[in-house]
Amino acid sequence: MRMRKLPWAEDFLKEQDVVIKEPAALQGKWKETLKRDVLHLEIGCGKGDYWTKMALQYPEYGWIGVEKNNNVAALAVRKYTKQEKEKAHMRFINDDAEQLASWFAEGEIQVIHLNFSDPWPKKRAHKKRLSNQKFIAQYAKILADDGEIQMKTDNSSLFEYSIIEFQNAGWFLHDFSVDFRRVAHDEDVITEYEHRFMEKGQPIYRAIWKKYPMNEKNA
Ligand SMILES: C[S@@+](CC[C@H](N)C(=O)[O-])C[C@H]1O[C@@H](n2cnc3c(N)ncnc32)[C@H](O)[C@@H]1O
Repeated sequence: MRMRKLPWAEDFLKEQDVVIKEPAALQGKWKETLKRDVLHLEIGCGKGDYWTKMALQYPEYGWIGVEKNNNVAALAVRKYTKQEKEKAHMRFINDDAEQLASWFAEGEIQVIHLNFSDPWPKKRAHKKRLSNQKFIAQYAKILADDGEIQMKTDNSSLFEYSIIEFQNAGWFLHDFSVDFRRVAHDEDVITEYEHRFMEKGQPIYRAIWKKYPMNEKNA
């Protein structure tokens, strides 16, 4: 995401308690800290529309947003500070998700959301894709047995790649759509990027993967 530098971003992020400076120190303690039994994690949450609005819509869950870019992270956290309702069930990590498995204990997360992840079209950059094997191996560790990955994208190549990567890792494609917004989905918030693609009339691809088939470990 190309964005102009915000001179206030770094200091602002340091001052906000919602931003967890040492996520590894909370490993295994996130549920207790957020006072919620079920945790959702959004990786690459950009300017935070999804993170803040889903947390408002589903206050019974804990919501953790991750964003490595300081400038967009600061805009997401500013959105959070302006939210008036109860928000003790939200936290933010301003870091690269490549060390994800050191932040969370095994099975600590219920749902991971990947919304409009960067497509990294050049082959040599595929390892940076959030649906690359390197990331999938970490998702397998931190997700509960009946947990899932929910992914949305406008990019058909990334979608195809992701289907194959999860398949190769032995995951189960639980649900998918190649035009998710053809019908209303009030249960799922529209992200900033999603909004732009919908305005252009582009279809939204969506998939849900589970680690195990239904009824095996997660009945
Ligand atoms: C294309 S934007 C989409 C933003 C938002 N999810 C949306 O749908 O509007 C992708 C975001 O993911 C972030 N990102 C990409 N790789 C990441 C990583 N490894 N760790 C944390 N954030 C990452 C980027 O900085 C960028 O802000």
